[in-house]
Amino acid sequence: MGTLIKNGTVVSAKDSQKLDVLIVGERIAEVAANISAEGHEVVDATGLLVMPGGIDVHTHLDMPFGGTTSADDYTTGTQAAAVGGTTTVIDFALQNQSSTLKDALDTWLKKSDNKACVDFSLHMAVTNLHGPEGAETLAEMDEMVAAGISSFKLFMAYPNVLMVNDELMFRVMQKAAELNALCLIHAENGSAIDVVVAQMIAEGKTEPHYHALSRSPKAEAEATHRAIALADIAGAAVYIVHLSNEDALAALKFMQGRGAKALAETCIQYLVLSIEDQMPGKSWEEAKYVFTPPLREKKNQEPLWEALADGAMSVVSTDHCPFRFADQKELGRGDFRKIPNGGPGVENRLQILWHFGVNVGRITPERFVELAATAPARIFGMEKQKGAVAVGLDADVLLWDPTAEYTISAKTQKMATDYSMFEGWKVKGNAAKVYSRGELVVDNVAKPGEFLGTTGRGRFVRREANAGGIG
Ligand code: URP
Ligand code: ZN
Ligand code: ZN
Repeated sequence: MGTLIKNGTVVSAKDSQKLDVLIVGERIAEVAANISAEGHEVVDATGLLVMPGGIDVHTHLDMPFGGTTSADDYTTGTQAAAVGGTTTVIDFALQNQSSTLKDALDTWLKKSDNKACVDFSLHMAVTNLHGPEGAETLAEMDEMVAAGISSFKLFMAYPNVLMVNDELMFRVMQKAAELNALCLIHAENGSAIDVVVAQMIAEGKTEPHYHALSRSPKAEAEATHRAIALADIAGAAVYIVHLSNEDALAALKFMQGRGAKALAETCIQYLVLSIEDQMPGKSWEEAKYVFTPPLREKKNQEPLWEALADGAMSVVSTDHCPFRFADQKELGRGDFRKIPNGGPGVENRLQILWHFGVNVGRITPERFVELAATAPARIFGMEKQKGAVAVGLDADVLLWDPTAEYTISAKTQKMATDYSMFEGWKVKGNAAKVYSRGELVVDNVAKPGEFLGTTGRGRFVRREANAGGIG
């Protein structure tokens, strides 16, 4: 006995077809026209699109940062993901500078243990190298890859906290090249930005707005170019996270044009929010939008959409790093340096991408599937398990209703923040039903916004080292 999804349109990254989908146990058993209903529970998907569950490759759950800890733990964060149609997240384990990668992995596996509600994986952020020429930490990278962690994050921002220097970055890139692993880069010139930040504070420019003004798009472009160039010299594949503006995009395209193995994501906030609309420098409320890189001028949005459509950028993620406005963002009142950097988004990624992408013709439904699920699975080495509605893969299946109207609000969201970056926005297109490894975990029609599975059911996904699928 399986679950047979009938009368829907299966959307892949390549095409859309009227097909039935049979789920048996945790896997997709058959995808074909007119599968016999005999012996199966039938789910009528008339009018719905049948897609792979979303994969958000950039979240920060239960992460200590900016003097506090991100508000969503693995339970609320993964339930919020599920309600929004995302069935896998890749979170970040952060190496403590004085400790090992193994310690970081243990810490993050403990955080997720018995808490994750959909499947998850981890990138490993390398913040320091131990041993002669970094040998001890670099050797640990082999162990990480063997444990299914095939991507390593390097921060070029946040001096004295997470930032690495070029030597460390280059050594990790060389090792990643040897292991076929992927290097993820937060590309901003942290040293230059810190000089500007200190000058602004000295001039009494302390409001949230100045967080955005202190971080020039050119500081992002410079670091984007430098990271890709170093990766190219090292022979490594590189993936730029949260690319936010057209200067950085130009640097990416330039290096792609020179043959560098360079990929990039942007995040929903950079596609639809702007410094003009959200951070005009008028109120403390703007602390809600303090994240890094910051919001940019509106003129950057269209080039980002174009890069998603033409393939220069491959993925849309969220950089979900939630902090409550009332007590956590409050830490930085009077000094923007102390506002915890980050915003909530994991629940709204697919709604925003569909509404502002597909509904207005910027991307096709197939490109939506590619950006939200198929490319993330391929680039991050899990295409044998996830990222498509195909026989043998995990039955992470999203029934998407392109006609459903939904109003985004903190009052109804699962995310643990007391605000939404998209408060009151009306979107068209929403998850109707969500299956995670064959289990119906969300039914937004019968029980809107509820997670129906058991807490802790989410599993760690081991990923292959495949050099981002472009090696
Ligand atoms: O502001 C952000 N993005 N916070 C999370 C850490 C990062 O840089 O991704
Ligand atoms: Zn970052
Ligand atoms: Zn991040």
